[in-house]
Amino acid sequence: MSAERVNVAGRLSGQRALVTGGGSGIGQSVARRFAEEGAQVVVGDLVGGDVMLDVRSPESVENAVAEAVARMGGLTTVVCNAGRPVLGSLDETDLEEWNDGLATNLTGVYLTVKSAWPHLVEEGGSVLATASILGVMATGGQAAYCAAKAGVVMLTKCLALDGAQHGIRANCVCPGMVQTPMFEGIIDQQPDPAAARAAAVKYTPIGRLGNPADIANAFVYLASEEASWVTGVALGVDGGFMAGKEIDF
Ligand SMILES: NC(=O)c1ccc[n+]([C@@H]2O[C@H](COP(=O)([O-])OP(=O)(O)OC[C@H]3O[C@@H](n4cnc5c(N)ncnc54)[C@H](O)[C@@H]3O)[C@@H](O)[C@H]2O)c1
Repeated sequence: MSAERVNVAGRLSGQRALVTGGGSGIGQSVARRFAEEGAQVVVGDLVGGDVMLDVRSPESVENAVAEAVARMGGLTTVVCNAGRPVLGSLDETDLEEWNDGLATNLTGVYLTVKSAWPHLVEEGGSVLATASILGVMATGGQAAYCAAKAGVVMLTKCLALDGAQHGIRANCVCPGMVQTPMFEGIIDQQPDPAAARAAAVKYTPIGRLGNPADIANAFVYLASEEASWVTGVALGVDGGFMAGKEIDF
């Protein structure tokens, strides 16, 4: 390889990123990969972050964004990844749980981007969000989660349009089933966890569950200059889940 083709600085060199929910799972992997690619990174999380962050609280979000800006000398990139499962069909979901699920999974994205927006406008930058296959395809028993993640997909597209004139791109990733503490917790709650895990693999055409790095690598691409003409995209990274279903009769 010729010397000029070696990108010593990294694909995200110069970027200053806040990763919400980066204390665990996908967000933790995103923070690690971004740092490996030369970005400065501040992790905001309820637990295990560089700064305390509750994305449900406007004050907490404002404080975390201000702290990230102070630590890194600015902000070019936000990865709105914090989220939690909301299990239950509509009739099983009371208003409190609905509101908290939406606050965590959807309004938290709005609050984070809103606080970061003036900094992104100043520097030109990138909004990234973790949506889900369940923001595009419904499943039974997760009404609030699906509605929230569908909101994240549409919010991303709106932000792409609102941001274009400011040099801001907005994209989200729709992960399939990824082995993280969240996913393992859901599997463990099933009556037969081993059967549930086998079913999850069977639903994934590529034949294995995802790893956090599978998702983080997609975020690296979307944040990088390689994606400078990519905005408003909901990128499925799901082992083929959304491609369709085998008819096995
Ligand atoms: N694991 C999967 O299969 C999967 C699939 C599709 C989408 N997702 C999405 O990926 C994202 C990351 O999930 P994960 O699987 O890595 O789960 P995880 O539980 O390992 O990590 C989620 C992180 O978000 C943090 N968090 C939760 N509520 C928060 C709040 N109010 N404020 C700040 N931080 C908060 C948690 O403390 C945790 O560190 C979530 O948005 C989730 O909905 C996960």
